[in-house]
Amino acid sequence: MSNVSLPPECLLKPMNFPHKVLMGPGPSNCPPRVLGASALPMLGPLHPEFTMIMDEVKAGIKYIFQTNNEWTVCVSGSGLAAMETACLNLLEPCDTALVGINGFWGERFADMVHRQGIDVKTIHRPTGEVFTLEEIEEALKKHKPTLLFLTHGESSGSTLQPLEGVGTLCHKYNCLLLVDSVAACGGVPMFMDKWEIDCLYIGAQKVLSAPPGASPISFSKRAKEKVKKRVSPIRSFNFDMNHLANYWACDGDVRRYHHTGPISCIYGIREGLAVLAEQGLEESWKKHKHCAELLYEGLEKIGLELLVKDKSIRNPCVTAVKVPDGVDWKAVIVYARKTYRVEIGAGLGALAGKVWRIGLMGYNCTPDNVRLVLRALEESLRMTRTAKL
Ligand code: GLV
Repeated sequence: MSNVSLPPECLLKPMNFPHKVLMGPGPSNCPPRVLGASALPMLGPLHPEFTMIMDEVKAGIKYIFQTNNEWTVCVSGSGLAAMETACLNLLEPCDTALVGINGFWGERFADMVHRQGIDVKTIHRPTGEVFTLEEIEEALKKHKPTLLFLTHGESSGSTLQPLEGVGTLCHKYNCLLLVDSVAACGGVPMFMDKWEIDCLYIGAQKVLSAPPGASPISFSKRAKEKVKKRVSPIRSFNFDMNHLANYWACDGDVRRYHHTGPISCIYGIREGLAVLAEQGLEESWKKHKHCAELLYEGLEKIGLELLVKDKSIRNPCVTAVKVPDGVDWKAVIVYARKTYRVEIGAGLGALAGKVWRIGLMGYNCTPDNVRLVLRALEESLRMTRTAKL
């Protein structure tokens, strides 16, 4: 008798796959065109047909970031991998990072820097608020950091950090500006070069509506110089921008094999970028603003309160809604999922259990989806309240 264990029972049955409308903070549903591209046959990481697709992806990233940066690539992994790439390349032990914390993602970056044994200073705003230029300048003067981290679209608090003027301020104090725009870019204005952002990254699964697995990132000339002048080695082979820039043909040298990336995700992201390019950035920004306004209006009509009062700092891509007193937030999410197959996002970090989060990004950002999520939320609230009586 063989010693081989039996195959798992679950794999001998068909996969149970529910179709859901993902109206949380991401991932978004992918358009059929993106899913179709992701299912195309495999190519090798250095096949010319694949490197041509990589070049198209690079052009698309430059467009949505509004940058001409040479060092513009996708890193393999989710937005977190891009965050780690920025951290590992732009900081070394002699540096100080200043991290703006107004929610979950600032906390996450501060933790990441700390793990590298690098000095971290922090400035804080409550989740749901943003930093002013004055606060930033004061902290730059006080801490003299070499890098400032800010989250553009803080998905935990649904805020949009104003970025105009921050890059210029950073450069006045000899500091680089790193921006996480995972939950915003593509759905709101972004001008990487004009706003003097030194490093910017996003994920594939939000406004691009592509499968997670490859994340766009770009480094300014200043940021690239900082990497080139490091005195200590980059503590990651995987995320070393010197290697990645070569593999993405950003250094004028012959492409060398570095790793086998998520080829199917790159096909998907190529199509996600194509959808945005065909629509045009300004149209996309307009669409996100319009749908978000329909959502705000509908939420207020059903008696719900938005976390962010100041309209000028709301991120149209993700909206945090306060859970009313006495309401079982989880029961509402479960009801909407079971009855409508609609995902409503839970709160994250300090606001877990206190807010729901509704995402309107890319393919999912439509007036029909706004109506669907409002209907699901209204009925879920009514039914879970009744069930408690
Ligand atoms: C993920 O991006 C989240 O905000 O939950």
